[in-house]
Amino acid sequence: MHIAARIARMAESSTIAATARGKALAAKGLPVLSLSAGEPDFDTPENVVAAAIDALRRGETHYAPTAGTSEARQAVARKLRDENGLGCTAAEVTITVGAKHAIYLALQTLIDPGDEVLLPTPAWVSYAPMIELAGGVVVEVPGDPARGYLVSAEEIERAITPRTRALVFNNPINPTGTVHSADSVRAIAAMLAGHPRITVIADEIYEKLIYPELDPQANTCSIGSCSEVAERTITVNGMSKAYAMTGWRIGYAAAAGAGAAAIREMIKLQGQMTNGIASFCMPAVVEALTNSSASVESMRTAFAARARLVSEAIATMPMLSAPTSTAAFYSFIQLGTALGRVSPAGRRLDSPSRFCEALLDEALVATVPGEDFGGAGRTAFRISFACSEADLREALGRLRGFLEQLTD
Ligand SMILES: Cc1ncc(COP(=O)(O)O)c(C=O)c1O
Repeated sequence: MHIAARIARMAESSTIAATARGKALAAKGLPVLSLSAGEPDFDTPENVVAAAIDALRRGETHYAPTAGTSEARQAVARKLRDENGLGCTAAEVTITVGAKHAIYLALQTLIDPGDEVLLPTPAWVSYAPMIELAGGVVVEVPGDPARGYLVSAEEIERAITPRTRALVFNNPINPTGTVHSADSVRAIAAMLAGHPRITVIADEIYEKLIYPELDPQANTCSIGSCSEVAERTITVNGMSKAYAMTGWRIGYAAAAGAGAAAIREMIKLQGQMTNGIASFCMPAVVEALTNSSASVESMRTAFAARARLVSEAIATMPMLSAPTSTAAFYSFIQLGTALGRVSPAGRRLDSPSRFCEALLDEALVATVPGEDFGGAGRTAFRISFACSEADLREALGRLRGFLEQLTD
C-alpha cells in the first residue's frame, strides 16, 4: 500500500518508543524499571472520576459541542483569567483531545509551507514532527546546559528572520525540568513587541509542577499575560500532568482578543477532524479545574521530593551532570565522558541512543535518549521521576552501578 511521503518521513515519538521497549522486556518477565514515560504514577483524584461517572449515569453520552460545553469552556476561561492573568472568555477557548491535539491544531492553523518556527531546544520530541507536518521549517534555538538549557530573549531574537511565523514556547520545559523565571518570560515578550508577525504557542502543561523547595527563585508567569503578545499568544494546557489524567486525553487552547480568530479556525479544523472530547468528560474538566487544588498540591509535593532525590544522586554520579530539576518531572542529563566508553556487555556507547539501549538491556532501566529533543540533547538522556520513590531509588542505584562498570 502507498504511504504518503509526509507521513513516511515522520519519525516515531522516541519517548513512546523507549517506553514500549521497556514494556516489551518487562512482558518477558524481566524486572525492568521505567524512567521513560512522562506520566504521573498517581491516580486521577476521586472527585474528578466521580464527576465523569455521574455524567455517564445521567446519560451524557451523545456528541458534545466541538469546542466543549459552555460550562467546561467557562471553567477554562475562569482558570486562565484568575490563575494566569489571561484576558480570554469562554468563546475564546477550545477543549481538545490532549494538549498534543491543541498544539497540532495551532500549528496546522498558523503555518504555511516554508514558514519558520522557532523552537528552543532541547524540546519535547513531538514539536518538530508536528511543525514539519504543517509544512513549517524548524529553527532550533539551542539552550546551554550550564544555564539550565534556558534560552534568552537575545538568543531567540538572533534566530528571527523575515520568514519567522511562530515561537513554540514550552514553559516549564520537558525534557529539561527547568523553568523560565517571570523576568525572563517578560523579557521575551518585550523582545517580541518588535516582531509583530510572530505568534507564540505557549505550552504550559507543566505549570502546576514547579518546586521552590529546590530553588526559591523557581517561579514563572504566563507569556499570554504580557501585554506585548497577549493577543498573539495561543496558550495551551491540559489535564494530563497536573491532575494525573494522561489517559483521559483532555487539553485546551485559548487566545484573547484578536488572537481568538485563530481559535475559531482551530475549532473549524477540529470539527472536521475529531469533534469534541468525550461528552461525559466535560464535567470532569470543570471538577478538576475548580475543586482539585489539594490533590494537585499533594502530587506536586511528592514530585518535589523526587526532584531532590534525583538531583542529589546525579550530582554524585561519575561522568554525568544535570541542572537541578525545579519543575515538571524530568532530569535531562549530560553524558559527558560516559560517551564513547564501553558497556559491561561490550557495546561502544557512542551516542545517547546506544547508552540508553545498553542501560536497558544490561541494567534493566528504561530511559529516553536525548537526540530527538534536539540541541544539547545530542549528548544527553532524559529520566522521568514520575514513578514511585522506591523504584526511583532502585533505578538510580542501577544507573550508578552501570556507570561504574564502564571501561575505556
Ligand atoms: C511539553 C508537553 N506538551 C504536551 C504534552 C502532551 O500532553 P497531553 O497528554 O495533554 O496530550 C506533553 C506530554 O508529554 C508534553 O511533555
